[in-house]
Amino acid sequence: MKERLDKILASQGAFSRSEARQLVRGGRVQVNGVTVRAADEKADPQSDQITVDGKAFTYRKYVYIMLNKPQGVVSASESPGDVTVIDLIPPELKRPGLFPAGRLDKDTTGFVLVTDDGAFAHEILSPKKHVEKNYIALLARRIPAEEQKRFEQGVTLADGYECLPAAIREMNDDGTLVEIKLREGKYHQIKRMAAACGSHVTALHRAAMGALTLDETLAPGECRLLTEEEKQKIRE
Ligand code: URA
Repeated sequence: MKERLDKILASQGAFSRSEARQLVRGGRVQVNGVTVRAADEKADPQSDQITVDGKAFTYRKYVYIMLNKPQGVVSASESPGDVTVIDLIPPELKRPGLFPAGRLDKDTTGFVLVTDDGAFAHEILSPKKHVEKNYIALLARRIPAEEQKRFEQGVTLADGYECLPAAIREMNDDGTLVEIKLREGKYHQIKRMAAACGSHVTALHRAAMGALTLDETLAPGECRLLTEEEKQKIRE
């Protein structure tokens, strides 16, 4: 679809709209090898070759960013007085409209997907689509075996909410380190599930979304773009 050149240039975050207009007016932008001087000239960002100062301008309709969220960072686009996951996105990946697809608590660490694709976010967050989120939780005490069975049936929270069936698997001898797989994401869900089963979460980390695990080479606070293949793995 054709759009105004200044809008295309500004959509990727590298330039503001007025910078984009100046670039075009300054004769620094070419479309399919032809210098364009009117910012309202239209181009198709998917099929036209756009260059700025002779360098190829990379256009991505949407971006999908895997972020390793550290403790103390808020999963929101804006939160005055706090550092947000969007604040951690480096300038070369930053663009208008980015938001976290799903929230982790401020003290939870791990995989947050940051995108500007609302339809994709909706798809992976909708409980109906069954995209599994995989967490590692450290518990103050083991959840007894009979309570763990309730995870598979659906834990009832203190407020009466009946959770969808979830999986729990002990990862150490005393049962305080567990893997939990959820298909929904209610507020403080794992903490409230653990509390409903007589325990308490002392640390929580999201390790995977769908079939895509958090890249271990990303230090807390670091992020990178997903490949198309990795994006598809979230849906699996
Ligand atoms: N469950 C929680 O309690 N907190 C999170 O951040 C994610 C899942």
